[in-house]
Order: sequence, then C-alpha cells, then structure tokens
Amino acid sequence: MTAAALLAGALVLAGCGSDDPQGAELSVSSAYMPQPVSDTMAAGFLTIANNGGEQARLTSVTSDIGEVTVHETEGNAMREVDSLAVPAHGKLELSSGGNHLMFEKLKRKPKEGEKVTLELHFTGLSPVDVEIPVKSATYNPDSGN
Ligand code: CU
Repeated sequence: MTAAALLAGALVLAGCGSDDPQGAELSVSSAYMPQPVSDTMAAGFLTIANNGGEQARLTSVTSDIGEVTVHETEGNAMREVDSLAVPAHGKLELSSGGNHLMFEKLKRKPKEGEKVTLELHFTGLSPVDVEIPVKSATYNPDSGN
C-alpha cells in the first residue's frame, strides 16, 4: 500500500463519527401507512438507516393519531417488542409481513393522501420526527402503487 492510500484510509477513519458525538446517524425512508380497513387499527412501515458507527435502539413511537406499538411477526402471529436495534452502518426495516408499527385506538381514520406524524424514540438519542404518507389499502412499495 502506498503512503497516499494509507493517508486516505486514516482520513476516512477520522471522519467516521467525529462530527456526531452520539455515534449513531439515523435517517428514515420508505415510510408509509396503508389506508386502514379498520376504524380503530392501522399498520405503518418504514426503514431506519444508521450511517453511524454505533448501534441505535428504537424504544417507542408516539403519534397524535393514537397509540403506537412496535410489533414483530413470527410465522402468522405478531407480538409487541420492547425495542428493536438499528445496527451500526446498517438498517432496521419495518415492512409488510415483518416488523411493523401498530396503531391502535385511532382518534380518526387515516385516508389515502393524508399524512400521519410520528415521533421515533431511541435510547440516548434525540427523538426523530417523521411524516408518513397514507397510501392505498393495497399499496405495494416494490411496485409503487
Ligand atoms: Cu401488529
């Protein structure tokens, strides 16, 4: 390896996390809620990416629209979990058929075209606000409709 290559490597390492004292750098994408069939319950999906060098942990989600819990799916059953990890340099995917957000005791029924506001809470980090669009009841993120 040349001296220039070694220097470049050192710069990359120094840049990693140095401007973020919290160690985790989170960003949310692919968020949506299928328009619920039920008047009282809905599901939500999103991807949380972590570009930082330290794991983050999603501990709770709040929304003005109702109560939100984090669920995981095992086989045909789902159950509430206390928290989910967002691995360092990795991502946590909440997607149809897998982990998801569960909205209950809805104060109003979200309709396609509206937005639902969420606050994601992580251990030791500031909460992250997210606006998620309400899509059709049969929305498929892979096909986009
Ligand atoms: Cu659920």
